[in-house]
Amino acid sequence: MTPEDTIAVETGPGAMTHEAYYALAERLLPGAGLGGYSLPNDVRFVIHKGEGSRLQDVRGRWYIDYVGGAGALILGHAHPAIVAAVQEQAAKGMHFFGTLNEAALHLAQELQAAIPCAEKITFTSTGSEATFYAMRMARAHSGKSKILKFEGGYHGNHDYSAFSVTPKALSNYPAGQPETGGIPSGLAQSILIAPYNDLEVVRRIVRENRDDLAAIIVEPAQRIIFPKPDFLPGLRKICDDNGILLIFDEVVTGFRLAYGGAQEYFGVKPDLASYGKVVGGGGPLGCVAGRADVIGLAAPSYKGKPNYAYVNGTLHGNPIAAVAGLASLRILKEPGYYKTLNARADLIRRECQKVLDRHNLPALAVGEASLWQIIFMPRPPANHADVMAADADRTRKLNVAQMKAGLYVLPMVRGFVSSVHTDKDFEETVRALDTACRAVA
Ligand SMILES: Cc1ncc(COP(=O)(O)O)c(C=O)c1O
Repeated sequence: MTPEDTIAVETGPGAMTHEAYYALAERLLPGAGLGGYSLPNDVRFVIHKGEGSRLQDVRGRWYIDYVGGAGALILGHAHPAIVAAVQEQAAKGMHFFGTLNEAALHLAQELQAAIPCAEKITFTSTGSEATFYAMRMARAHSGKSKILKFEGGYHGNHDYSAFSVTPKALSNYPAGQPETGGIPSGLAQSILIAPYNDLEVVRRIVRENRDDLAAIIVEPAQRIIFPKPDFLPGLRKICDDNGILLIFDEVVTGFRLAYGGAQEYFGVKPDLASYGKVVGGGGPLGCVAGRADVIGLAAPSYKGKPNYAYVNGTLHGNPIAAVAGLASLRILKEPGYYKTLNARADLIRRECQKVLDRHNLPALAVGEASLWQIIFMPRPPANHADVMAADADRTRKLNVAQMKAGLYVLPMVRGFVSSVHTDKDFEETVRALDTACRAVA
């Protein structure tokens, strides 16, 4: 066995070199990564640990983390309250199956109280599962098979979501473009695509498909695009007028924009909402919340009936993730939490914008609440067409330069501010952005 063949038991700076880890990754993992992102060789790194707002790689280098576990880590890494809760639960059991556990029930109670549409809750392990099941429930409830989603919207990794997420050309609405190979050929007819923030096109598609349309699914804030004031209320009305369910994908916005998520922030209540990320405190947990008559169809007593919506998973309601979620929610619930978080994100957006302006770069620090991204574009985006018109090459170059300067941002991907980002982090972020701007000028 060579060193490259061993999985380091004792990890940490020096345990195995960066190069050795990547040699292993190149050999074992597609694209030498853990998922859909592969970073350029000169900025990629192997994480050793996270602490608060920062990550350390196996070379001992530190990064200020704005990826935040894809938005799950609103309290940063290794928050003491979450660590304590997880340690206590781990000593009592990592995982159970087949019957209830205390932690999941306590979390369900807290979620039901917090989420405006939540009459009932059903747990999942991930956000993708939560959108998958919400769509299944909508189809089971209505007996109809089509789902309308928005161009540029992401609802996870499953086949029903993988249409027109990052299309290179605008769709011929409502026909979508598959994001991946491997999607059964008949599925495309079931997923209809509309442009975000465009109620006129939605009305037309609904009119033409109302007899087959089970639901509209929407990210209330789609990636870094925020809704026009009439968009979400307009979707609610279209759904009500046509007997269609409205599904909010709150995997990102849930417990992120406000304690009551997008439903509280924008004042619109869907029939179903999917959650992931923050609700599991960094652990594998998601849920679908919503109307009792729809979520209730997952009850095993419906088995064998045509409107039964099968929901089941080995890790559903996992107690480790449930206590991590509960520990997080206790903190997020403190008065003023979101006001402070969102104000601090405003501050870093403003300070970064000043740096971009000083360098005369036609880029914007866009976003709202604690979501943000620097993009070369003339105005905040209203739809996927605006995102496509952005200068992706320059944005990517700047993002890579930011990484070289010590910021962990994924190229062309929205970032998150957490409540453990400090003033010192912000000062260093501004300095790092200045260095990055100089590098790309
Ligand atoms: C809006 C949205 N929905 C669904 C998902 C899928 O969640 P997961 O990656 O936990 O499966 C994501 C993940 O980033 C997301 O951003």
